[in-house]
Amino acid sequence: MKSYLFAPGPTPVPEKALLRMAAPIIHHREKAFEAVFEEVREGLKYLFQTQQEVLILTSSGTGAMEAAVSNLFSKGEKVLVIRAGKFGERWGELSEAFGLDPVYLDFPWGEPADPARVSEALSSQPDIRGVLIQASETSTGVMHPIQEIAAITSKRDDVVLIVDGITAVGVFPMPMDAWGIDVVITGSQKALMLPPGLAFVSLSEKAWKKAESTDTSTYYFDLKKYLASAGKNQTPYTPAIALVFGLHEILKMIRQEGLEEVFARHHRLADATREAVKAMGLELFPKFSPSDALTAVRVPESIDGLALKKAFLDRYGITVAGGQNQVKGKIIRIAHLGYFDSLDMFQVIAALEMCLYQMGYPVTLGSGLSVLAQKLA
Ligand SMILES: Cc1ncc(COP(=O)(O)O)c(C=O)c1O
Repeated sequence: MKSYLFAPGPTPVPEKALLRMAAPIIHHREKAFEAVFEEVREGLKYLFQTQQEVLILTSSGTGAMEAAVSNLFSKGEKVLVIRAGKFGERWGELSEAFGLDPVYLDFPWGEPADPARVSEALSSQPDIRGVLIQASETSTGVMHPIQEIAAITSKRDDVVLIVDGITAVGVFPMPMDAWGIDVVITGSQKALMLPPGLAFVSLSEKAWKKAESTDTSTYYFDLKKYLASAGKNQTPYTPAIALVFGLHEILKMIRQEGLEEVFARHHRLADATREAVKAMGLELFPKFSPSDALTAVRVPESIDGLALKKAFLDRYGITVAGGQNQVKGKIIRIAHLGYFDSLDMFQVIAALEMCLYQMGYPVTLGSGLSVLAQKLA
């Protein structure tokens, strides 16, 4: 049986990147590596839609989240943490771990943040120095209104907006400079179509100014060192050389497709998947504002969600994600971020139909597939 990855990370890796990563390792202080690194830096700026440097860290995405918290805030500083899922909770855990004073703004799982409440919180608590949020809350499949929130924070010189774009960058438009976002983060194993192991973070001028006046509580993730090295096409410590080679290949692919088409493709696949799922009589988990990175689907009451996820894997070799924490067993999450095209979605929707049918759910075989075909033809 073949294996298929349909979880929202790690995502499938294109053959070109796999082959490139299999090349013999060169030394990272050689000119040949620096030449690759220089092109990678340009490609990342294109992807992040920024003139700022995009720093490359050797870690999973959480490492870049930690770097943002530890470089931008001193102990005791107040930050507004938007919590509407598991990854929002992670911002809170990181803030507490680094001794900040987090103020929580909670929204129900499955709903996006309300910019008016962000604005109210900033007005009523003028000592808040940062807003921490996801662009795409992967645990619920919801997209938060980053443009609207950035419009609020960019008017304030003393507040930085930190966006975890781990399942947003390379999925839907989030132009960092044009929207006035202060920090954007992503990781390699999502829309960047690479194995896990690299994290990326870019800071606006406002964020760098804030970092200058912060008592940085980190050594390995001291971002000023990464910025200084990047100017020399280097990293302060040994980089994940093979992954940087893979990244070089991926960034060329993204440029070739064009960012606009990358976004359009994600939207096409997401929209078709959502409509297919609805045509099968199933309900989407997000009430509104679904992310184009993944489709979170409510598991029908009569079906055991954990058994459904297991059936995907055991019967068809397909990995989908289940629900986490409070929605464990209640939702499944189907990814379409990264290296996916139209026909890929037929595999996962066919498997969903067949698994539900075999588990006794009254689904009409072909109901989702026919909508998928109509949407993608
Ligand atoms: C929105 C979001 N934030 C943070 C993370 C954590 O990233 P990592 O597991 O790469 O540390 C993930 C991973 O799924 C995510 O989707």
